[in-house]
Amino acid sequence: MKIQTLALAISAVAALGTVSSAIAQDAAQPKPGDPVITQRGDADGAFVTSGKFSEPDGEKMYRRVCAACHMADAMGAEGAGKYPALAKNANLAASGYPMLVILKGLNGMPPLGQMMTDQQVADVVNYVRTHFGNKYKDAISAADVKAMR
Ligand code: HEC
Repeated sequence: MKIQTLALAISAVAALGTVSSAIAQDAAQPKPGDPVITQRGDADGAFVTSGKFSEPDGEKMYRRVCAACHMADAMGAEGAGKYPALAKNANLAASGYPMLVILKGLNGMPPLGQMMTDQQVADVVNYVRTHFGNKYKDAISAADVKAMR
């Protein structure tokens, strides 16, 4: 390695160090008036502050929350983890199954329903069961969700 390259590498590492310690410091010292953040995650606020999702319908909930793991086209993904496809998924035939998975979680799938109202859970279950090649028309209601919580 040439001396210049080495010097460049060292200064790059030094610069990185400065940035990360600045971030660490920032995170460690909340300033007065900062909003109380219970969980950090999605930059647009879906995962922050109240611990509840604010999405008004099943499609928006899917795009904001579920698509992060199951992908926008619901084809799932495999890599750092295994995220099953929800598209054309025969496991969605019985409405109780996706409802249970959302409410209680399943291995790598967090119990996201705990951060949703009964209606939001019903909406997102009804959405995935009638989209992405799934044609299960028997919709569930908020009351069904309440009964399974
Ligand atoms: C943090 C990543 C993540 C998010 C976000 C997520 N899931 Fe999952 N989901 C998973 C994983 C991982 C599995 C597989 C669990 C297993 O089988 O062990 C799974 C499994 C499922 C299953 C069962 C599929 C089957 O064939 O058995 C359903 C239904 C499901 N998710 C629906 C949803 C819905 C609806 C949302 C949005 C409200 C959502 N998931 C959000 C990770 C996620």
